[in-house]
Amino acid sequence: MRIFSGIQPTGDPHIGNYSGGFRQYAATQERGEAFFCIVDLHAITIQHDPAELRQGTLDIAAMLFATGIDPNRSVVFVQSHVTAHAEAAWLLSAVTSYGQLARMTQFKEKAEDEEFVSAGLFTYPILMAGDILLYQTDIVPIGDDQRQHLELARDVAQRFNHRFGETFVVPEGVFPDTGGRVMNLQEPDVKMSKSRGASQGTVLMLDPPDTIRKKVKSAVTDSGSDVRYDPDAKAGISNLIELLSVTTGESIPEIEARYDGSGYGRFKEEVAESIVTLLTPIRARYEELRADEGELGRLLALGADKARAASAPTLEAMYERMGFARL
Ligand code: TYM
Repeated sequence: MRIFSGIQPTGDPHIGNYSGGFRQYAATQERGEAFFCIVDLHAITIQHDPAELRQGTLDIAAMLFATGIDPNRSVVFVQSHVTAHAEAAWLLSAVTSYGQLARMTQFKEKAEDEEFVSAGLFTYPILMAGDILLYQTDIVPIGDDQRQHLELARDVAQRFNHRFGETFVVPEGVFPDTGGRVMNLQEPDVKMSKSRGASQGTVLMLDPPDTIRKKVKSAVTDSGSDVRYDPDAKAGISNLIELLSVTTGESIPEIEARYDGSGYGRFKEEVAESIVTLLTPIRARYEELRADEGELGRLLALGADKARAASAPTLEAMYERMGFARL
């Protein structure tokens, strides 16, 4: 079984990335041959700082290992180190419809925030489809916000297979049961995201314990006192219940029962402590790994070699089936 996922090296990773990304990567790597890609080519689709891109790439590499990716079992690599990704994106643009790209909600949302809307922001999902399809991927662990992009990758795979002959596995998404869409603590109707990284509503994976406590304490809730899961009527409390479920592994009904009649004060304190308990050892491992750039570079070079070898046959098959002269 092939597993593939990607994460952008821009902005600081937050507890949403942990929930939809990191924890699922560590869990799914047990199921087969896994590839985790630091998608630096995706990161340039919105205005970026070149110096931060380099640092961010190493930061994410260290975080992947700190959250449990085993370098002896799984492949961690940087997208731009494997040129097949850029090539596959161009070839797949021939079987991606303009109309479907125009319907991508993430494009529409990001385009609204940006002063300069790059062509790359629009074609971004084609690059992502190529990432996945190059590895004959069976499963893609992701958060809910990537659902529509995965659907596009599946459509692209099917269209290519239909026009040029069976070439790609059609991948399936793997989404968390709870915590697939962690919301901003200050605006519980808005997804927690890296672009709001500095805000009070985003718990960063590297926030010190007291910062986490302050952020959770000031989380927006409602005027009631019931710790009850109801995302429509009680978005803030429901988000905190999901976070507690992500950090402790308890189910939502178990959590509701435990806090029955206890009010929001103790509940919020315990949510904060559960996040602190989860992130403290991760932060310690991260600091250690991040300090050794030589070792990170060695692991990423090794990862790139394995990713090149794994993707090359698919890229070659794409060129051949599309009729390019391979002389
Ligand atoms: P990115 O870098 O924005 O996010 C990395 C992972 O974190 C998940 N995530 C969340 N999960 C729950 N709640 C949230 N608030 C939250 N915010 C982010 C994302 O769903 C993702 O799984 N386009 C992708 C990167 C990518 C990719 C790929 C993923 C490029 N190629 C191929 C899978 C396969 C992205 O920008 O993720």
